[in-house]
Amino acid sequence: MNAPEEKIESLANRIAREHREVRQAIEGVQRVLLKASQKELAAELCSELVRPLTAFRDHLRLHFEFEEDGGIMERAGEISEGTKRKCEELVAQHRDFLARADELVEATESLAASNSPVPAGVIARIDQLFTSLFQHEHEENVLFQHLVYEDLGGGD
Ligand SMILES: [Fe+2]
Ligand SMILES: [Fe+2]
Repeated sequence: MNAPEEKIESLANRIAREHREVRQAIEGVQRVLLKASQKELAAELCSELVRPLTAFRDHLRLHFEFEEDGGIMERAGEISEGTKRKCEELVAQHRDFLARADELVEATESLAASNSPVPAGVIARIDQLFTSLFQHEHEENVLFQHLVYEDLGGGD
């Protein structure tokens, strides 16, 4: 194994580790949402939601920055036109996820400031974001495992 091969493998390992950390951040939000009754989160629990949701959003931003700037997307794009298109699609999803996360942080901050409950619609949008993100991370795991395989000479 030469140095560049080690680097790709370590990048992929780091991303897999970050995916586990993002999932932990999501679980921090879900622990609060479990306290919702009738699909609505009581006003006194709204401020409790803001902190883990903000932490999740900040974690996500750093994670996406590493994926986009750490070099792995470029390497994946070198494999084929298909993987290049997949990377472009994944990066475009980052913009969408961050916009949705920002909007949800702002919404819950404003609800907490007015001491209002979190309505079912906001909780549903948080759940939808997590579901889309799990699918996204799964697709990346598959893509990056493929990249490591190719880099180690498995594609020859
Ligand atoms: Fe991603
Ligand atoms: Fe990711």
